[in-house]
Amino acid sequence: MLLQLLSALWESLPWSEVLLFLASFLLIADCLKRRRPKDFPPGPVSLPVLGTIFHVDPKKPHLSALKIAEKYGKVFSMQLGTQWMVVVNGLPLMKEVLVHQGDNFLDRPPFPLLNEITGTFGLLASNGLSWKQQRRFVLTTLRNFGLGKRSLEERIQDESRYLTEAIGDEKGQPFDPHFQINNAVSNIICSIVFGDRFDYHDGHFQNLLRILDEAIVLQGSVWIQLYDICPAIMKYLPGPHQTVFKNWDQLKSFVKEMIEKHKEDWNPSETRDFIDAYLNEMAKDGAASSFHEQNLLISTLDLFFAGTETTSSALRWTLLYMALHPEIQARVHSEIDSEIGQSRQPRMEDRDSMPYTNAVVHEVQRISNVVPFGAPRMTTNDTELAGFRIPKKTIVAANLSSVFLDKEEWETPDVFNPSHFLENGQFKKKEAFIPFSAGKRACPGEQLAKMELFLFFTALLQKFTFQAPQNVKLNLDYRVGITLSPQPYQICAHPR
Ligand code: HEM
Ligand SMILES: *[C@@H]1O[C@H](CO)[C@@H](O)[C@H](O)[C@H]1NC(C)=O
Ligand SMILES: *[C@@H]1O[C@H](CO)[C@@H](O)[C@H](O)[C@H]1NC(C)=O
Repeated sequence: MLLQLLSALWESLPWSEVLLFLASFLLIADCLKRRRPKDFPPGPVSLPVLGTIFHVDPKKPHLSALKIAEKYGKVFSMQLGTQWMVVVNGLPLMKEVLVHQGDNFLDRPPFPLLNEITGTFGLLASNGLSWKQQRRFVLTTLRNFGLGKRSLEERIQDESRYLTEAIGDEKGQPFDPHFQINNAVSNIICSIVFGDRFDYHDGHFQNLLRILDEAIVLQGSVWIQLYDICPAIMKYLPGPHQTVFKNWDQLKSFVKEMIEKHKEDWNPSETRDFIDAYLNEMAKDGAASSFHEQNLLISTLDLFFAGTETTSSALRWTLLYMALHPEIQARVHSEIDSEIGQSRQPRMEDRDSMPYTNAVVHEVQRISNVVPFGAPRMTTNDTELAGFRIPKKTIVAANLSSVFLDKEEWETPDVFNPSHFLENGQFKKKEAFIPFSAGKRACPGEQLAKMELFLFFTALLQKFTFQAPQNVKLNLDYRVGITLSPQPYQICAHPR
């Protein structure tokens, strides 16, 4: 009876008109939301629903908006789903956003995928007071565990020994250095946060590194952008985003396990590592409100993954550039031979007397551009930039590539050329070298990463000459994910 009534109603309705009405209502609503705010930076017209994402080539997101930038200038706007994003190009504006007006651009946007993974806890995705407290604690603890002191340097030197041994075992035959380097680099941050390193043959840990790598690469896919636009639907669909969630769950379980172990043999009077220090902080009377289990978990996870992926990618790029530029590699070898020799390990002090090697490390970071857009920011207040008005809660991306490839800043921006960082044979600092971003929310791992890059690189070149395998032509193809990392490659490490 009811069914019949409903079907009669169904048939009697002028469906085409209802649909037309609904569609135009949605379109109008969509357009209203989509109108650029007053005095907002210009940009391309966006399609309803999906915004401007299809203006960006997912294979080359850091370069493909070139035409937009040419047309609209240093600051332009695009749409990510229903949200506005402002892209900032060039060093002067970058400094304005990251440093001079840093407080107005301090927040991270609430991307659904990232929020789902982190719950906005931790350091990377948090905001406000919680971020401030986590950040201060991380910086102090990193410093206490030997940043700028000998102990951390020693850890990197010890790890260099394991790494050169493992690479020596390859006997000059072609091999993919990816996971050995990943493991070595990760062991440094692991020794700081977990108080332990992991053997290169530890299958469980190698698997975690592979899962992390997979998540980082998948997070560059269009699926993730779609998830961020309509999480409510995507949540129920299969696809790479489900793998991303699964992988992060496994990584979280691993960190959770480490935390549980620390709790079992916790001794407040002996702080072995970051987790111990955090447990002490949580136990303090009148501890700041943000020191709780969830922040412990996600802050540790943030350090673990941010301290692994970026530095490992940079080091893998370095070996690739050395194999592609044997004449530059030869100059690094000769500087190592004259300043360090073969009888002892490289140390940080050596950097001052090794301007060429130092310049090579910097130049690789410039040209390989591992984190092309930094991490996205969001305005904390209505603000002004280059004469435009940017409302509160607008997403802002600093296009670091635009600084690294700027003809005004570099003699030959498209060419791998260590002289960019040399003047009269001395190392020359460059203001436009900002791979770690700048200002109050810049990378807290900068000092650590710089130490790792110099020590690992010098230790590897002290022992080996890196070359393409016979009949193989190496190239600079990259994988786009959260980072730009080299495509898997085979290389030969010939003992020197
Ligand atoms: C070559 C190596 C590295 C590069 C190029 C790099 C780059 C960056 C960049 C561009 C940001 C975004 C900063 C911003 O929003 O302005 C960042 C954030 C961050 N990095 Fe690094 N990083 C590197 C190594 C490390 C290491 C070794 C650690 C571990 C201690 C680390 C931990 C973090 C964390 C926790 C954040 C989030 C900071 C926050 O939101 O307050 N990074 N990094
Ligand atoms: C970022 O900068 C690079 C180099 O100047 C440029 O090719 C690219 O179009 C820029 N991307 C965006 C989204 O502004
Ligand atoms: C935000 O901007 C308004 C207007 O310029 C100003 O009155 C207010 O103090 C600012 N708020 C913060 C938190 O900076």
